[in-house]
Amino acid sequence: MDFARRASRLDSLLLRHQPWWRFNAYAGAAATHLDNHKSLRDYLHSLSPAEIHNLQGDDQGLLTALRPHFEPATELAELINITPAGPPLNPQEPPKGIPGRKWQQIHAFIAAHTNMHRPILEWCAGKGYLGEAISQHYQLPVTALEIDPQLVAAGNARAKGDSPLRQIIRCDVMSNDVHQQLTPAQHLVALHACGGLHQRLLRLAVAHNSPQLSLAPCCYHRFNDTYTVLSQQFKNSALHISSNDLRSAVRQTNTARHGEISARRTLQAWHLGLRELLPVLGADKSTALPSLPQHWSKRSFAEFAQAQLDHKNIRHALPGGLADFEQTGWQQLHRAEAIDLLRMAFRRALELRCVLDSLLYLQEHGYQCSLSEFCSASLSPRNLLIQAQKSP
Ligand SMILES: C[S@@+](CC[C@H](N)C(=O)[O-])C[C@H]1O[C@@H](n2cnc3c(N)ncnc32)[C@H](O)[C@@H]1O
Repeated sequence: MDFARRASRLDSLLLRHQPWWRFNAYAGAAATHLDNHKSLRDYLHSLSPAEIHNLQGDDQGLLTALRPHFEPATELAELINITPAGPPLNPQEPPKGIPGRKWQQIHAFIAAHTNMHRPILEWCAGKGYLGEAISQHYQLPVTALEIDPQLVAAGNARAKGDSPLRQIIRCDVMSNDVHQQLTPAQHLVALHACGGLHQRLLRLAVAHNSPQLSLAPCCYHRFNDTYTVLSQQFKNSALHISSNDLRSAVRQTNTARHGEISARRTLQAWHLGLRELLPVLGADKSTALPSLPQHWSKRSFAEFAQAQLDHKNIRHALPGGLADFEQTGWQQLHRAEAIDLLRMAFRRALELRCVLDSLLYLQEHGYQCSLSEFCSASLSPRNLLIQAQKSP
């Protein structure tokens, strides 16, 4: 299926099924859109917390499980199926200072290319690890752009004396200064450049007629006040994607540590339990409550509730039977997580829509493009790679 056709089918699928993926299961509203879907509702309610956790991290597995109960699952599974790139390079120990997971992503990114032969311009480079690996693998000069002066200094300390020449330049890629870093023969590369930053890269690649670009995008909602569609095809769409939708596209826990997930869930359950308690204290159930930092999960529900009440100036002693409210919170969390699987079923489709928008924009400007999954989702859920080339 060509990219324009896949994009058009994805767009109309997302448009038709908005009530499923725009529903916030954690906000306390009744899931009335499930009323006429008894088999789906029964299936979701039958899932254990462990089953829900496994499905949350496996897009295709989730769609397979939903298929007997949920009509859009079959088409979603077809549309989000992207060919994995070839096997990664032979694993090597990461060079000193490069975290193991980042090193494996970099290896997979490089292995997804059949060849690299142009001078490299690395976008939003951090300490320039990707450029370092490309430079060593292909003996190419690398210029890397990064805004954070500490990362620039650390990257240049690593690059000192390297041959071929490698340098990290402090540069805000959103500023006009960036133009002077783009030269006609470069291969532009970006690993995990966030929303507005990679859209800037695409616009500049087109403006400077860059011959080659490789982009693994991430965090589509960041560095963007509002998400701006780039491609003509999606400019004509009736579907409008908000920053909130985009946040939802990258909400995933495959690479989060067990402790982080557990702390987040505890605070969510307490939050829901406290909402049930508020009316008993004479407060409105929908009172806006601040989110507390993760270390609060190590305290007790009573301390958590007291801190929130103090914050809201609710001067009312905590009643007895708090354990019941805490338990209700955990039950509600379990139910919300089950229902939220339906939003998650569309998560990858939303992400792919953003990526196809970038790809179609490049195609519309004369680039030949390919799209692959350059690493496994367990290594990084942001594993889509656009490769684009333009003949002179
Ligand atoms: C998600 S990190 C990715 C870093 C690196 N490419 C990697 O994969 O490890 C995004 C990087 O973009 C940099 N950045 C953010 N805003 C920037 C800007 N306006 N100009 C240049 N770099 C920027 C950040 O400092 C950060 O190092």
